[in-house]
Amino acid sequence: MNKVLVSLLLTLGITGLAHAAGNAEAGQGKVVVCGACHNADGNSVAPNFPKLAGQGERYLLKQLKDIKSGQRTVLEMTGMLDGLNDQDLADIAAYFASQKMSVGAADPKLVERGEALFRGGKLDEGMPACTGCHSPNGAGIAAAAYPHLGGQHAQYIAKQLTDFREGNRTNDGDSMIMRSIAAKLSNKDIEALSSYIQGLH
Ligand code: HEC
Ligand code: HEC
Repeated sequence: MNKVLVSLLLTLGITGLAHAAGNAEAGQGKVVVCGACHNADGNSVAPNFPKLAGQGERYLLKQLKDIKSGQRTVLEMTGMLDGLNDQDLADIAAYFASQKMSVGAADPKLVERGEALFRGGKLDEGMPACTGCHSPNGAGIAAAAYPHLGGQHAQYIAKQLTDFREGNRTNDGDSMIMRSIAAKLSNKDIEALSSYIQGLH
């Protein structure tokens, strides 16, 4: 490809990003209602409400769009995003992404099994390790919209893995990445992984 074309594509790409980008400061003013469950800084206290602080911006924006459109069902948030446009959602995603996720603790009795699954997967059953997409320290890959897991509430993680397995959460795309992984997890696996993830950082 010639150099002019490459730089033109780069410029277009960057302008495109700048347009879609959220403004964290503007977002802070749009999350007052969210604080009741997710806390003002996104580090929710109740273990069934996910922490949003420090979560990847692209992942957050995708979830907000999925929840708003009904692709992902969150009964507690019914109607709550209806009055927000794409720019509002982008600002909110930027705000929570700019915060830092707090870390919890793992149950020492579950660490060994949780760590083995997280780092090694179940190769005999064709289940990949979680680290490939969610990274060894659980930080995820923000640019690919692979979510940050480390420090997240174990109860919330366990519910998501069960929901993927039972087909109650289906917004992981046509490749069904998480549904096919969760299909290989027993309840005991999910318990150990979720506890391990809560303490991971
Ligand atoms: C009444 C409580 C409640 C309020 C208020 C609320 N949420 Fe939620 N939210 C939830 C629950 C519960 C879930 C997880 C549901 C599940 O288990 O899948 C969730 C999930 C999410 C997720 C997905 C997180 C992830 O890791 O995938 C995002 C993003 C989110 N909420 C953003 C918001 C925003 C932004 C607001 C304010 C406009 C808001 N929520 C208000 C209860 C609430
Ligand atoms: C090939 C990549 C890949 C691998 C391997 C993978 N994940 Fe995921 N995971 C994803 C993607 C992508 C999503 C987001 C799906 C969406 O957009 O809703 C996700 C979402 C999740 C969520 C929901 C997070 C939230 O905040 O709601 C959990 C929990 C999770 N993964 C746990 C795991 C565990 C545990 C493993 C290993 C057993 C694993 N994942 C392996 C790609 C992967």
